[in-house]
Amino acid sequence: MEYKNLLYSKEENIALITLNRPKVLNALNLEIITELHNLLDEVAMDEEVKAVIITGGEKVFAAGADIPFMLGLTPTEAEKLATAFHATFDRIESLDKPVIAAIAGFALGGGCELSLACDLRLATEDAKFGQPEINLGVIPGAGGTQRLSRLIGVARSKDLIYTGKIIDAQTALSYGLVNEIVSNEDLLAKAKKLAKGLASKGPVALAAAKKAINYGIEVDKYTGNCFERQCFALLFSTQDQKEGMNAFLEKRKAQFKGN
Ligand code: HXC
Repeated sequence: MEYKNLLYSKEENIALITLNRPKVLNALNLEIITELHNLLDEVAMDEEVKAVIITGGEKVFAAGADIPFMLGLTPTEAEKLATAFHATFDRIESLDKPVIAAIAGFALGGGCELSLACDLRLATEDAKFGQPEINLGVIPGAGGTQRLSRLIGVARSKDLIYTGKIIDAQTALSYGLVNEIVSNEDLLAKAKKLAKGLASKGPVALAAAKKAINYGIEVDKYTGNCFERQCFALLFSTQDQKEGMNAFLEKRKAQFKGN
């Protein structure tokens, strides 16, 4: 499928999705969000793909939802827009493959929220994060109030969302908002290295880990632990479990096949 606002490539088992509206700092309108959702559906069905990278390129991740596009929306249209953002970001979370956000420059508003839906975040030294919606007379509408507070805690989320302040990569790292800071030149190479490492793991086990963490954080500990045990037990029906444990005993590297 052709995408107007996205670049898409596959390298070995890695899918690379690049937001491509550079003139407006990759501002997210309904069209790019819909394209991203469609592409994620395509990636989900592609058995060759074992890990996904979402990036905005070398200069900017995304400066948020498209402000001119939002200006004249009615409440009903705004709800439709927010629902589309939620559906796409939920699709990232429900994708049974790990998704890495490779972030250079600004990740603001909906751009920050997009990164929050990914499993892991790599940021460049000049990356900047924030939820500045308050300065536009609104609040985050693409999951930011929920995902940010779960990730970095309520107090820090309120600070960011109430003040609209923008934080640098070091502060984001200290908050646990990003996993690692890398140099600008290394961003894509590091993201690919991480993705390739993940692609070499058992995909069924990885998908189970993602599900157990994402589902478990939404429910009470008893239910979450119960779900974890079921996921753990189900993995004993896979060849990958036999391969992983046999490989350990035979002192060799496991060759996981995803079955
Ligand atoms: C549309 C945007 C944009 C945005 C930047 N641009 N952000 N266009 N929507 N969110 C455009 C600018 O208008 C400008 O176009 C060009 O990109 C370059 O931006 P500048 O402002 O000139 O660059 P700079 O001075 O470097 O400042 C960068 C910036 C600033 C700090 C990121 O652009 C900024 O504050 N942007 C808005 C950030 C924001 O408030 N995001 C939250 C949006 S609300 P021209 O044509 O003038 O060159 C949101 C809600 C999500 O995300 C929920 C949805 C359901």
